[in-house]
Amino acid sequence: MRKHHVKEMLTEDVVNKRIRELGEKISEDYAGQEIRMICVLKGGSFFMCELAKRISVPVSIDFMSVSSYGGDTKSSGVVKIVKDLDESITGKDVLVVEDIIDSGRTLSYLMAMLRDRGPKSLKLCTLLDKPDRRVIDVKVDYTGFEIPDEFVVGYGLDYDQLYRNLPYIGMIEFED
Ligand code: IMP
Ligand code: MG
Repeated sequence: MRKHHVKEMLTEDVVNKRIRELGEKISEDYAGQEIRMICVLKGGSFFMCELAKRISVPVSIDFMSVSSYGGDTKSSGVVKIVKDLDESITGKDVLVVEDIIDSGRTLSYLMAMLRDRGPKSLKLCTLLDKPDRRVIDVKVDYTGFEIPDEFVVGYGLDYDQLYRNLPYIGMIEFED
């Protein structure tokens, strides 16, 4: 691993305040409905738990894990389902919760696949968005923060599986 340190980008207070706002907005938008929140493991898990606690309409949760097929297929954005959902989403109001949207490849594939399963509605909520990096257009319904093109960690996001547990968002600064 390259020599590096983590520099704070969004403090714990700032992140928590924004998650509360998102929770209020989502609760308003889904008034009278029930939300099936889908977390994309592992990165989305910290955000989904905090967000779910701030939502006042009935919520159920499910998890899914995906990985990109290696090599040249990465450009096609084809992802392999490592762990599928436990429950059917047909007829449900589904909210996919992600940690970050970068190129958009993973999410555009995933959203299309979920749409094929016939949910009543399908929306996307991401904690972070790096719009400058977008290769494939993805419709994002709720965004926590738009951030510049930096490699970030914390709140579920990792660098080589580390730093997911940081309660704030930091950026990696390399020292060599
Ligand atoms: P993409 O939008 O298909 O390019 O993939 C987004 C995925 O790449 C995210 O779900 C993260 O797992 C990972 N990723 C992208 N940018 C970062 C970052 O700055 N820090 C940590 N993981 C990232
Ligand atoms: Mg992810």
